[in-house]
Amino acid sequence: HTKAYPLPSKKQCVKEAIYVFEDISISKNAEEKVRYSEQKYRTTINSMRDGIHVVDDNLTILLANKALVDWNKRLGLTCQVVGKNLKKVYPFLGDLVEGEYKRVFESGRIMITEEQNKVKDRVFTTETRKIPVREGDRTIRVVTVIRDITQRKNAEKSLIKYAKSLSEANRKLEALNENKAQFISIASHELKTPITIIKGYADALDMEGLGELTAKQKKVAGKISKKTMHLAEMVDLMLDLSRIELGQFRLQKKTVNLSRLTQELFEDFRYRAQEKEIEFSKRIHKNIRKKIDDARIKQVYTNLLDNAFKYTPRGGKVKLSLTKKGDYAVFRVCDTGIGIPQEHFEEVFKPFSCVDGSRTRKQGGVGLGLAIVKQITELHGGQVFVKKRSKGTCFEVQLP
Ligand SMILES: Nc1ncnc2c1ncn2[C@@H]1O[C@H](COP(=O)(O)OP(=O)(O)OP(=O)(O)O)[C@@H](O)[C@H]1O
Ligand SMILES: [Mg+2]
Repeated sequence: HTKAYPLPSKKQCVKEAIYVFEDISISKNAEEKVRYSEQKYRTTINSMRDGIHVVDDNLTILLANKALVDWNKRLGLTCQVVGKNLKKVYPFLGDLVEGEYKRVFESGRIMITEEQNKVKDRVFTTETRKIPVREGDRTIRVVTVIRDITQRKNAEKSLIKYAKSLSEANRKLEALNENKAQFISIASHELKTPITIIKGYADALDMEGLGELTAKQKKVAGKISKKTMHLAEMVDLMLDLSRIELGQFRLQKKTVNLSRLTQELFEDFRYRAQEKEIEFSKRIHKNIRKKIDDARIKQVYTNLLDNAFKYTPRGGKVKLSLTKKGDYAVFRVCDTGIGIPQEHFEEVFKPFSCVDGSRTRKQGGVGLGLAIVKQITELHGGQVFVKKRSKGTCFEVQLP
């Protein structure tokens, strides 16, 4: 920027002048920067999907973004909003909104509201954020960001509706499940009497109490007797499981010497070990006492031992131990049998589960043993685990 000051001379023509050169590149730059930053922020707010306007303390709109103008257009409202009063542009807002702005100006705090609007038959929900712009301790402007949340609200409503129908369906399923448990409970109970009678006759037949039998008849009578006993056990288990499910199962707890109970079990299974030529060993810590239902815990331990012998081939090993871990009594049965693939660890505790139908059906199991083990252990506040082993299986029951 150059300025020339002619120096006066005596004659008419100017012979000398003072030139002042001013470097204005810095202020040019500043101007450009302001313009650039203004452009940037305009582009930004115009590209936003939320409607935005800025008002002063008289509620005169000083600025509005494109989304807001578009919105007004769609609703049939005026598009010339800048310079106008908010109440004129949105007459339907009423005094409530004026009061809200007043509060934001006075408090200097952000306010978020949700409103249902109806403009020319169109109903929509908006979320409005009124954000104060402060200068010192005064609010000089309020920036308002309006978001159409109709879709979100509708989605929320349908979600609530779905949640309600889901919980209703769940309630029905629970009732159905209870019916099922009740049915099994009644059916098992009703089955018990005829099974007991059949077993009585079968045993009498087998022991030749009803007269002498031929060898073939005796063999069949023996089979009937054995299978009936198995049937009776199965029905008992089903009855127990359904009672547990119905919450009708009561434990009869008393303080019991678990070490002694385990030792007795060891003696009971010794015969089976010999019969199957399985090396059976034990490690039982002395005098471990717990308040438990001894008949039920015996049932748990028996089931685990029964499985170990059932699923361990001739010549294998079964090891039994009872130890203490903190306040817990830990009963463990490990075998060198056919093992359980890790992906079936959880499943084996479900009723009627068997890892591989063909290999276990051969052993005559129905898959209720471990289900009862888990339920009874948990009723005692304990836990049962199946552990990974390189060969065979290890079950562990921890009782508090
Ligand atoms: N020690 C084990 N070794 C290998 N597989 C086992 C062992 N214990 C359990 N399983 C597997 O877990 C399944 C479930 O065991 P669970 O005791 O519940 O049923 P079951 O022995 O088949 O029948 P039930 O005990 O009702 O007579 C078994 O069928 C078997 O496949
Ligand atoms: Mg079993």
